[in-house]
Amino acid sequence: MSSALTDLFPLPIVQAPMAGGVSVPQLAAAVCEAGGLGFLAAGYKTADGMYQEIKQLRSLTGRPFGVNVFMPQPEYADPAAVDVYAHQLAGEATWYEAELGDPDSGRDDGFEAKLVVLRDNPVPVVSFHFGVPSREVVDALHRVGTFVLAAATTPDEARAVERAGADAVIAQGIEAGGHQGTHRDIPETDGSGLGLLSLIAQVREAVSIPIVAAGGIMRGGQIAGVLAAGASAAQLGTAFLATHESGANALHKRALTNPLFVRTELTRAFSGRPARGLVNRFLREHGPYAPAAYPEIHHLTSPLRKAAAKAGDAQGMALWAGQGHRMARELPAGQLVEVLAGELATARASLTGGGVL
Ligand SMILES: Cc1cc2nc3c(=O)[nH]c(=O)nc-3n(C[C@H](O)[C@H](O)[C@H](O)COP(=O)(O)O)c2cc1C
Repeated sequence: MSSALTDLFPLPIVQAPMAGGVSVPQLAAAVCEAGGLGFLAAGYKTADGMYQEIKQLRSLTGRPFGVNVFMPQPEYADPAAVDVYAHQLAGEATWYEAELGDPDSGRDDGFEAKLVVLRDNPVPVVSFHFGVPSREVVDALHRVGTFVLAAATTPDEARAVERAGADAVIAQGIEAGGHQGTHRDIPETDGSGLGLLSLIAQVREAVSIPIVAAGGIMRGGQIAGVLAAGASAAQLGTAFLATHESGANALHKRALTNPLFVRTELTRAFSGRPARGLVNRFLREHGPYAPAAYPEIHHLTSPLRKAAAKAGDAQGMALWAGQGHRMARELPAGQLVEVLAGELATARASLTGGGVL
């Protein structure tokens, strides 16, 4: 870990920010108290909603924590393709007795306002998803003492993160649950995402800033693996999604280990941008036809996903999950951090004892 990052939290374990009400303050606080780095997710929240969660988290822990912000997306969605998809979803709306959402309900969920809040009320760590902020934004966060990270899914994206002046890069492998943090959604590159170990090796040669590894990590032995490969810490989403404090819908938590859901896939079905989720009926039926149109498709399907959750129907929900979902453990988050730290120590000892490290 870079000295600044090590100073912030003792264990090389980061709880991934998970938008949509999953990484609530209670979850982040439990992780921070156990020695990891807990994160709040500001995506889909207003600037004030983000501020209220920060205040709540501060009341629960005095330890350092992070806040994650989505970069606004350039406007390149084809309205005609969004219309065609809306027609395709008409039957879903009838089935769930819901209206389709307005695809044009807003593109950047208050990015600038969030930056103002984060400059006026500095937090220890900020990470960015879906792109890199400008050098000015990073400098402004540095001036108030914030450690800055941004996600990358390729060595080129990692170079862009380093050029922007970020302190570390989150290398997100193709195994990862939820949205891929690609800086630009280019359908022609679908299927070419790198597996985490390959990505870490390539990012290591591309940049000199520390790497936080994300994607499919569910056990301490895997954390030892990514540290040995050159990462400084591991960021886990799906593993924390299953914990007691996670705000994920109970159906979502249960689905992670339900044998009905045998695999995950990257899909645009729910949001218009590639995200990994458990393959369910909605994903199977609509995934192949969903256009590259984020956040329009996110807004369009929002009422359908809510109605499916209300009806207790996991087949119509976005069940974001990484490739390791079957290994999820339903524990209190602090206990999960302890278990992971124990597994990490055992794996490190066996690597060292075997003369590997
Ligand atoms: C339910 C869910 C929501 C997520 N939301 C966000 C988010 O808001 N911001 C972000 O940077 N990453 C988000 N991610 C991706 C994580 O940061 C991370 O890359 C991923 O969880 C790692 O893979 P894993 O789930 O296999 O551990 C989300 C992941 C999941 C599972």
